[in-house]
Amino acid sequence: MKKITKCVIPAAGMGTRFLPATKALPKEMFPIVDKPVMQYLVEEAISAGCTEIIIVTGRSKRAIEDHFDSNPELEQRLGDSGKFDYLKKVKWLNDMANIVYVRQPYPKGDGDAILRTKNLIGDEPFLVLFGDDIIDNDPTAAEQLIRKHEETHAPIIATVWVENEEVSNYGILEWEQDWDTTKVTRFLEKPKAAETDSRTAVIGKYVLTGDIFTYLENAKSSVWDGEIRLADAFIAMQKDRDIYGLQVEWTRYDAGSKVWYLKACIAYAMKDKTIANEMQDFLKTI
Ligand code: G1P
Repeated sequence: MKKITKCVIPAAGMGTRFLPATKALPKEMFPIVDKPVMQYLVEEAISAGCTEIIIVTGRSKRAIEDHFDSNPELEQRLGDSGKFDYLKKVKWLNDMANIVYVRQPYPKGDGDAILRTKNLIGDEPFLVLFGDDIIDNDPTAAEQLIRKHEETHAPIIATVWVENEEVSNYGILEWEQDWDTTKVTRFLEKPKAAETDSRTAVIGKYVLTGDIFTYLENAKSSVWDGEIRLADAFIAMQKDRDIYGLQVEWTRYDAGSKVWYLKACIAYAMKDKTIANEMQDFLKTI
């Protein structure tokens, strides 16, 4: 079986919910303590064995490329002034993986973003991590998804349990138990809570198989608003082959929402010994 070595990270979204901050700064570059969201995602992919990272970007996303590039002046200064800890952190960014960039010229949906990587992926399984989902867990969510793919050889969708009022914001999976996994029996994109008993929601982490591209290409013809959606490809694919959902215990932060982004900042600050106590004292005062 081919080992998963490639990870696609779609990052061309406009970040409307964070305007005006996202006018010039990509939301994927927002820091959680001292690392941008994008770095957490790339490190998650590496933790799961990926060596090729394909980031789908768009206009005004140049800061992402600069972050993973070398910065010789900065490196020289840090070295000259003996700040070797920082130098190590900075140099790791351009050593960590082979990162390539693909542009998505128009915001035409998550499926279109993935379709643009077709020639770079070929016919092999690959990991997909969307920028909004930060999951704090060891083993990482990506490791868990890949492990499940190695058992099943099938596409794997990461899921979380949601409350009734959240159902219509998510893809929802109906499923049946298949040994220790959950086989998807129906994929509903953003249904009303009354349309399904399931509260198993799709989040932005997947292992996809090479045949997804055919489903995405065919989904093109069915769309009414010019967008190509991964959800449409899943709905068609599920009729032809087994797809699995994977729900595990993990702490998830939706970094695409203001409140959850700020919760992530606080939670990660609490894990950083150099600032945790001061942060905690401050939080008690407000
Ligand atoms: C997309 C998908 C949806 C999924 C969600 C996860 O929706 O279409 O199936 O549950 O991502 O974040 P979006 O949030 O882009 O509207």
